[in-house]
Amino acid sequence: MASILLVGPGAIGATLAAWLCQDDRHRVVVAARTPFESLEASTPSGVIRAKPQLITDPAQARPVDWILACTKTYDSDSAASWFPKATGPSTRLAVIQNGVEHVQRFERHFDRARIVPVMIDLPADRLAPGRTIQRGPAQLVVPEGKNGAEFLALFAHANFDARQTDDFTSAVWKKLCLNCAGAPCAVLLEPIGISHHDGVAELMRTLVRECIAVARAEGATLADGVADDIVAGARRAPKDAGNSMLADRRAGRPMEIDARNGVIVRLGGKHGIAAPMNALMVAMLEAAQEV
Ligand SMILES: NC(=O)c1ccc[n+]([C@@H]2O[C@H](COP(=O)([O-])OP(=O)(O)OC[C@H]3O[C@@H](n4cnc5c(N)ncnc54)[C@H](OP(=O)(O)O)[C@@H]3O)[C@@H](O)[C@H]2O)c1
Repeated sequence: MASILLVGPGAIGATLAAWLCQDDRHRVVVAARTPFESLEASTPSGVIRAKPQLITDPAQARPVDWILACTKTYDSDSAASWFPKATGPSTRLAVIQNGVEHVQRFERHFDRARIVPVMIDLPADRLAPGRTIQRGPAQLVVPEGKNGAEFLALFAHANFDARQTDDFTSAVWKKLCLNCAGAPCAVLLEPIGISHHDGVAELMRTLVRECIAVARAEGATLADGVADDIVAGARRAPKDAGNSMLADRRAGRPMEIDARNGVIVRLGGKHGIAAPMNALMVAMLEAAQEV
């Protein structure tokens, strides 16, 4: 039995909260910015429903075993406003976001030794507050160790592909290769079918190659073929499939520009590796965001 405060019930958070509630040994509280009555997640295993306790004010939080931070990366500091009341001496924080800086984003708010970074691959969309659709299987990857193992145990009933790795660095950078290649869709306001244009495909490969170069400097092991694999995967996907930066831009929300492309430029600079195409994507998306 675990007490859990899930912060950020969007596409990922509401889907995970619905799954957690299916194990009635867990006591799940959802910390929301936008309230809702109940959760309903349409998943590959069927529709799952739940009615966890919902709180909307950080003052309502109580100490829990686990805090799960599921906001967008740019809302990390506001997610941390829930921590003071929710944190006891042994509370652990799972950071379930994209990017490669899960720990860095939260270490000024939480004891670094009790932060569990989580690589999540779970295609999900938010249909309305508390309503989500999970479009495919879920994969969770965490660093090897007691904290990672105990985090994965929270989802033991969910039949996710959940595993520990002794090379978390490579796992998150491989996911970043995929995410950085999504930028042209957000720039062009086009779904993934645009990858059938040879010039766009080459741009995606270049974005990924820049990411691979920085990833290797950061200690990741990635094959050269990742760039071609990502373009081939994009071309196999339904042509109208989007990505979350495209969805955010279309909805007029902020985008995870820094976590998905800016980080490649920033960390590349640290190692003397230029990432000009990622810098171009950052400039164009930041300009689009300001319009
Ligand atoms: N969606 C996917 O398929 C997918 C797949 C893999 C990884 N990811 C990553 O997972 C992370 C979450 O993505 P998402 O798609 O779930 O985002 P999302 O649908 O935009 O959900 C984010 C949620 O956080 C809430 N929130 C923001 N600040 C908050 C605060 N201070 N307190 C409480 N709640 C707060 C938002 O509230 P409102 O309801 O008011 O907006 C929203 O419900 C991102 O890093 C994303 O890149 C997403």
